[in-house]
Amino acid sequence: MYKVNDNYLKLPGSYLFSTIAKKVAAYSQEHPDRSIIRLGIGDVTQPLAPAIIDALHKAVDEMGHAETFHGYAPDLGYEFLRSAIVKGDYQSRGVELSVDEIFVSDGAKCDSGNIQEIFSLDNKIAVCDPVYPVYVDTNVMAGRTGKYNAEKEMFEGVIYMPCVEENGFAPELPEETPDLIYLCFPNNPTGSAITRDQLQTWVDYANRVGAVIIYDAAYEAYISEEEVPHTIYECEGAKTCAIELKSFSKNAGFTGTRLGYTVVPKELKQGDVSLNALWARRHGTKFNGAPYIVQRAGEAVYSEEGKEQLKKQVAYYMKNAKTIYEGLKSAGYSVSGGINAPYIWLKTPDGMTSWEFFDYLLEKANVVGTPGSGFGPHGEGYFRLTAFGSYENTVAAIDRIKALS
Ligand SMILES: Cc1ncc(COP(=O)(O)O)c(C=O)c1O
Repeated sequence: MYKVNDNYLKLPGSYLFSTIAKKVAAYSQEHPDRSIIRLGIGDVTQPLAPAIIDALHKAVDEMGHAETFHGYAPDLGYEFLRSAIVKGDYQSRGVELSVDEIFVSDGAKCDSGNIQEIFSLDNKIAVCDPVYPVYVDTNVMAGRTGKYNAEKEMFEGVIYMPCVEENGFAPELPEETPDLIYLCFPNNPTGSAITRDQLQTWVDYANRVGAVIIYDAAYEAYISEEEVPHTIYECEGAKTCAIELKSFSKNAGFTGTRLGYTVVPKELKQGDVSLNALWARRHGTKFNGAPYIVQRAGEAVYSEEGKEQLKKQVAYYMKNAKTIYEGLKSAGYSVSGGINAPYIWLKTPDGMTSWEFFDYLLEKANVVGTPGSGFGPHGEGYFRLTAFGSYENTVAAIDRIKALS
């Protein structure tokens, strides 16, 4: 008789965003006259930039003619996109990478979930708390953790690194030595960033203890401060200890178009075994390439017009971030994030739990955010608002929240 992968049974019930959706649906049904503003899920709202639309149209036309039709894309990505990435995201920052260290995919969620496959189940992972849930859940599914402790809201066998107000929402080096360290900066959900020097400490640590850092830089485009690194490879020695994940979702609005990439440097080796070769093997076996038209759209992100248009798009969202940050601050809330990231992390008032504040905001202001506790136990007492709404909705939401105090 067959057996299921019972690691899946360790995962606690409902997914955060489906619980939110259910609560919002129930509220709207009871109050059909209320207009609800959603600043919860981290999805973009601005349309694709004109340079990207042009590239898509052109590529679609090419697909309609035998001479320019494209079938299966190369597993690891088209050369035109991989070299645009090398030039646009790395050479421009003084980092030398070769095209075959870039692996194009359909987004960072899959990559951040799949990357653990090339590591032994004996490895111990360390994650920030609160955390983007994919890192933990995919390791649970693979069997790299123990059981879920419902009281502590933590999995056994995982090193949780608290990111709280006292440490500026930046993890400290763990007491127990991990093998795989997941870091995400600028951070989802806290919106915090770390400096180049802080990241260098992690790189030095990983090289010293023989750990690999899986560095999720999905929000890199939102960095505004000079001392915040845009890529982990700005740190010395990162090529021997770090894998970097990137997404086109937040810098270019590809949440529905789907494109991302992973960097696995050739210098990253365990003895004679190259992680670059392992990831190439995995990618080639299990992935059949991102669509040609989408890769052409991705190439347009690096064109002069594309860069100019996307700078404006990021600035639009960051204006929202500022509106939320300053509005809440003036209303007496304790807020962080929003400077190098499109997320604002606020402390719930009057000792409310994250979910109590969610209900309060939904009922009294008709504004939807995300309870911090959904990202891990150290998120309790916090709440996340995103800057990805329209400017008008953002202003209206903050006015409504201010009117409550
Ligand atoms: C930290 C982080 N990594 C990765 C992703 C997923 O990105 P993608 O749309 O490329 O799958 C998200 C999406 O919200 C995210 O917050």
